Amino acid sequence: SNTKHFHFNVEWKSVTRLCHRKAVLTVNGEYPGPTIAVHEGDHVRVLVTNRVATNTTIHWHGVRQERTGWADGPAYITQCPIGAGKTYTYNFSVANQRGTLWWHAHFSWQRASVYGAFIIYPRTPFPFSAPLQAHIPLIFGEWWNGDVEVVEKEMMLHGGGPNTSDAYTINGLPGPLYPCSTKDTFIQTVEPGKTYLLRLINAALNDELFFAVANHSLTVVEIDAAYTKPFTSPAIMIAPGQTTTVLLTADQAPVPGDDSKSMFVMAARPYLTSVFPFNNSTTVGFFKYQTSTEIQENSAIPPPFILPNNLPALGDTPFATQFLGSLRSLASDDYPCNVPKTIDKRIVTTVSLNLQDCPLNQTCKGYLNKRFYASMNNQSFVRPSTSILESHYRNLSTGFSTDFPDNPPYVFNYTGVNPVTENMSAEFGTKLFRVPFGTKLEIVLQDTNFLNPENHPVHVHGHNFFIVGRGFGNFDVEKDPKGYNLVDPPERNTVAVPMGGWAAIRLIADNPGVWFVHCHLEEHTSWGLALGFIVENGKEPSQWLLPPPSDLPPC
Ligand code: C2O
Repeated sequence: SNTKHFHFNVEWKSVTRLCHRKAVLTVNGEYPGPTIAVHEGDHVRVLVTNRVATNTTIHWHGVRQERTGWADGPAYITQCPIGAGKTYTYNFSVANQRGTLWWHAHFSWQRASVYGAFIIYPRTPFPFSAPLQAHIPLIFGEWWNGDVEVVEKEMMLHGGGPNTSDAYTINGLPGPLYPCSTKDTFIQTVEPGKTYLLRLINAALNDELFFAVANHSLTVVEIDAAYTKPFTSPAIMIAPGQTTTVLLTADQAPVPGDDSKSMFVMAARPYLTSVFPFNNSTTVGFFKYQTSTEIQENSAIPPPFILPNNLPALGDTPFATQFLGSLRSLASDDYPCNVPKTIDKRIVTTVSLNLQDCPLNQTCKGYLNKRFYASMNNQSFVRPSTSILESHYRNLSTGFSTDFPDNPPYVFNYTGVNPVTENMSAEFGTKLFRVPFGTKLEIVLQDTNFLNPENHPVHVHGHNFFIVGRGFGNFDVEKDPKGYNLVDPPERNTVAVPMGGWAAIRLIADNPGVWFVHCHLEEHTSWGLALGFIVENGKEPSQWLLPPPSDLPPC
């Protein structure tokens, strides 16, 4: 195998969007950050130098980090942050994984601007036959005119919105629907008749998105770096943390010389927003057909356009449900689906927003003049001030306990008239659960959220999982498992738990270490919608967590 070296300098860079110029935290001055492209089986070394006055860490979202939890990145879970002026080398392999992933900062809200694509080229040919003209990463993000650190502090203090971003972006560009942004529009040239692999990544902080291209359909071939049975859809839904790789064929007949007939709009907008009032603004880019009579190759001025009529509307739950329900693992001889048919342990956990009294002399923005916070099984996760992985490795239990409850403390009733119940409170702490190496684990994620209409995209570090079931209402432990898909369930690292419903995931806990599980809506993670789990070492030395690297940052 080959070793690929990268240098990441975390540094400020002045960036202008929407006519607001501000210092943006970046990697190597790039916004969005550089693409990492490696091959399956490669060894990756990324030397990160922190050139700013604040702490930082980088997470390789979806990279399994087999036995190398030290390189996973979430601050205070697997490492202490990289301090001002310090360096740390993330050292890991990408074996038996291929496809579209991404990387992002995993310290406070830095991932608002510190993110990029992480692409693993497969060792063997793609399982789909279309000859590809090019691979195009399309990363969705959010832009704030203000300082994101201030937005984060405000949200923690007052426990609620509005703290919406000022624009959604495609590859860092908002597009013509936002003020002052026509020149900041993403335009991708395509050749008529050719097929492109679009690597879609949702790096937005707080919003699940719909995406569509006018007059073109999209064929989904891979999600979260796992191949799917190909299926064609007029649009896609993608939650923060997720990736979706699709084929797009430039099959329209362009009219040479007429921009309005040779440029096709692509657009992304939220499924639901995390705060009121709804912000339904839309980021727009274009696929521009290359035609023979073209004089000016780079006309960056978008033509008049209308939004694609195949773009689902805000709140289109039927589309979201149908799209997510259509995803299936490829489950072929070459790429078998290793979903555990039986389980050793089941955890049923709520994913919930909660309400807390407002601090004296403050105004709160959650609900009923209270502040929001969040929890799983009424445990609101607090990050410790030391690294849990380090404590675990040294057999210390400083900063955490391993008594995360297996079941919710209260029974939830979705048909009740008054949503504000005992479920609205939770205790603060750092609770994990612990499983032996090789445990076949099922986690049922039960939404309880009456206060805020929201899907929760829950991300598991260190493992891929299979989404064996999803449904609305209360999970029924007797009935619902009978309807599980144990043949070709979708394999992912981030699952969108339906609003007012549940999702059941299965995984084999075969990666020794400490792993973070959290809602990938940044606001909810900050409020405590998270837990951790420890996978013990196996019997064989090849099933042990590797020793910590010598340059691991201290706290
Ligand atoms: Cu993409 Cu814990 O993160």
